[in-house]
Amino acid sequence: MQPVNSDLQSPNDNLQSREAEIVQEPSKPSFQSASITFVKEDKVVFATQGANLRLKAIENNIDLYTFKGKMMNCGGYGQCGTCIIEVVEGMESLSPRTDVENRKLKKKPETYRLACQALVNGPVSVKTKP
Ligand code: FES
Repeated sequence: MQPVNSDLQSPNDNLQSREAEIVQEPSKPSFQSASITFVKEDKVVFATQGANLRLKAIENNIDLYTFKGKMMNCGGYGQCGTCIIEVVEGMESLSPRTDVENRKLKKKPETYRLACQALVNGPVSVKTKP
């Protein structure tokens, strides 16, 4: 009896082509981490590349907010401006300032960021509640 579809390969053929694909993949790691040093708290937190700075702080019980921010913050939507941090080292490891940050931080030093808008791509040191 003839196979219905002559394009079908044997399972072994398929397995060999998969192995070839795996060997040809570049040898760079698929997971890269970034470290966030919270200077005042003397704590280093590791995060995956592109992690949100505010979320990593909250996950690790780092207090980002002053009293006013604790009572009322926007939950990370860049509306309240209460999650301000100062970048001590590694500004180049953060995503660029967003339009929201440029508006909210207009009168603040260049080293200030909104934690909820900053994505971490490498080692960075920050001060909370500057
Ligand atoms: S949490 Fe409101 S601006 Fe960041």
